[in-house]
Amino acid sequence: MRDKIVAGNWKMNLTKNEGLLLIEGVVNGVVNSDVKVILAPPFPFISDAVLGLSSSKIKVAAQNCHQEESGAFTGEVSAAMLRSFGAEYCIVGHSERREYLKEDDQLINRKIQRLISHGIIPIFCCGELLEERESDRQFEIVSDQIQSALQGFNKDELKNIIIAYEPVWAIGTGKTATPQQAQEMHAFIREKLSEVLSENAEEVSILYGGSVKPENARELFAQKDIDGGLIGGASLNAPDFLAIIQSF
Ligand code: 13P
Repeated sequence: MRDKIVAGNWKMNLTKNEGLLLIEGVVNGVVNSDVKVILAPPFPFISDAVLGLSSSKIKVAAQNCHQEESGAFTGEVSAAMLRSFGAEYCIVGHSERREYLKEDDQLINRKIQRLISHGIIPIFCCGELLEERESDRQFEIVSDQIQSALQGFNKDELKNIIIAYEPVWAIGTGKTATPQQAQEMHAFIREKLSEVLSENAEEVSILYGGSVKPENARELFAQKDIDGGLIGGASLNAPDFLAIIQSF
């Protein structure tokens, strides 16, 4: 049985009190379900989130980490630090970092390596741009991203990885992939993963991200290969985020 997961990516939003209120709202509202809930706040909140969520089953993810172990990298945060503050997951390969910070799959590969070596589970994001879908290249693009980012790892290292398919044209745009488009890509990703993971690919949770809202979550999550969601905007509001968790 694959884990059902709903993860909230706050991106660069909320100041201290707003963030603490959101954590409290999620903890108080989450019902004991079999859905694994993960919050990915910005770095300054990691410690408070770990503390605030310690009485619940909700886990904490970082939104990024540096690829090197430690050293003279002003402004950066290492995987070892994240682990020592209690983060158990980390998002890597998000399209916003690919676009604005020019992160490529080779760099993402190194970050994944670092995370795994510290026992942090990577949430690896992949997905095509609008023009790539319009020219029917979405499968080729996602296949290349997975191939390069996951190159060199063995079955054991990757068996806990979480994949998030986030078509870039659906992120923050209010446009969602149709459940059929998402399912088709998720099945493709699982097939691709089976080249490395063989039958273990069946156990990998593949999340959909891109304008998931309480109104569309149920139909998306009902698809065979969609094991949950990576939620941006709607995770900044506890009632909406809780409603998405309840959509399973
Ligand atoms: P939105 O839910 O705001 O479209 O963001 C999705 C996302 O990028 C999550 O990582």
